[in-house]
Amino acid sequence: MRTQVAIVGGGPAGLLLSHLLHRQGIASVVLESRDRAYVEQRQRAGMLEQGTTDVLRESGVGERLDREGLVHHGLELRFGGAGHRIALTELTGRTVTVYAQTEIVKDLVARRLADGGDVRFEAQVVEIDPATPTVTFRQNGRLHTLECDYIAGCDGFHGVSRPAVPELRTFSREYPFAWLGILADVPPSTDELIYASHDRGFALHSLRSPKVSRLYLQVDPQAEIAAWPDERIWSELATRFATDDGWELREGPITDRSITPMRSFVAEPMRHDRLFLAGDAAHIVPPTGAKGLNLAVSDVTLLARAFTERYAEGSEALLDGYSASCLRRVWRAEHFSYWMTTLLHTDPHGDDFARRLQRSHLDYVVSSTAAATSLAENYAGLPLTP
Ligand code: APR
Ligand code: PHB
Repeated sequence: MRTQVAIVGGGPAGLLLSHLLHRQGIASVVLESRDRAYVEQRQRAGMLEQGTTDVLRESGVGERLDREGLVHHGLELRFGGAGHRIALTELTGRTVTVYAQTEIVKDLVARRLADGGDVRFEAQVVEIDPATPTVTFRQNGRLHTLECDYIAGCDGFHGVSRPAVPELRTFSREYPFAWLGILADVPPSTDELIYASHDRGFALHSLRSPKVSRLYLQVDPQAEIAAWPDERIWSELATRFATDDGWELREGPITDRSITPMRSFVAEPMRHDRLFLAGDAAHIVPPTGAKGLNLAVSDVTLLARAFTERYAEGSEALLDGYSASCLRRVWRAEHFSYWMTTLLHTDPHGDDFARRLQRSHLDYVVSSTAAATSLAENYAGLPLTP
């Protein structure tokens, strides 16, 4: 068995890479350990930078995104009982779009299969050799070997690709909180996202459609989901979103709930020999700035360009620059996500001094055009440079 690019992992990074390569006439095989239903149902974030929607649209997988995605021009920071709008589009000229990661995955899987792509579910990669290069995977109880020119490690944080990079340097930060996320069958109580900072902890009101709300609460990282029955979730959300003018949160049946730990993580370099890491395999951000999916998309966009140059012109220049190009953008997003997380969350170990500083910082962000613009240009996403 042989292909040009062996892609480990069929999340958004692996699927989009395979699609972008196909459009350039480059063959790939995607090996995904889970089944199709699982990858299409996994709930993740859903805020897309304009650069991300551009890549999806320009590569011909933006049809449903254009129909169902909700274009946003601003967001709200809420604290001290009042809301403050950050006018993203006025400040940056760009928009963001709410469209769930699960929907992108469904669109990409459907498109790869319609284009005759080789996407194998329940195919677990067990070994990677970046030198030969080869990938060994288990499918239907048997081991198979896939030979290739290059390997793309798109297998997420718990994958097997990253450990195949020797002399890896890693950088990380754990946070003393996690996010409890819910999906609820209730029309959103807001048109734009609300990021709320409250003494009891952070809360986020996002949405999925005119009828479905997505909400998050800062909780203890050791919290058990069983300790959060519906009434407790709604009452805590109502408390953290409360305003002096009596804003009301609509409630409805909760259809999905989970607790996600928060961490920052970067692995350097993102390449070893013929193996290239992309997406969560190489870096994790806390979800506050909604950068995870956008970074995965920018990584594979750069990687697809680099493979295109290699196969069309025989040059490895872009492949050689891949890791450094990605890491510049990754570290910007790491800083922004860390910054936005610490700006908005309540540190359980923090003292009153820290809380006062945080409040001053929030006041500054919503009252200074310079500070608001800095938030806005990072949130809406910086341009993709090679
Ligand atoms: N063999 C094959 N597939 C594997 C293996 C393996 N050994 N290990 C992991 N995988 C698969 C996982 O099942 C998963 O479907 O790799 C895929 C990785 O997908 P994601 O975790 O979604 O990562 P990525 O594609 O980089 O997307 C990043 O996901 O976590 C979010 O916020 C993050 O939105 C961002 C996005
Ligand atoms: C989401 O809609 O899931 C979402 C939106 C914005 C974030 C994080 C998650 O910052």
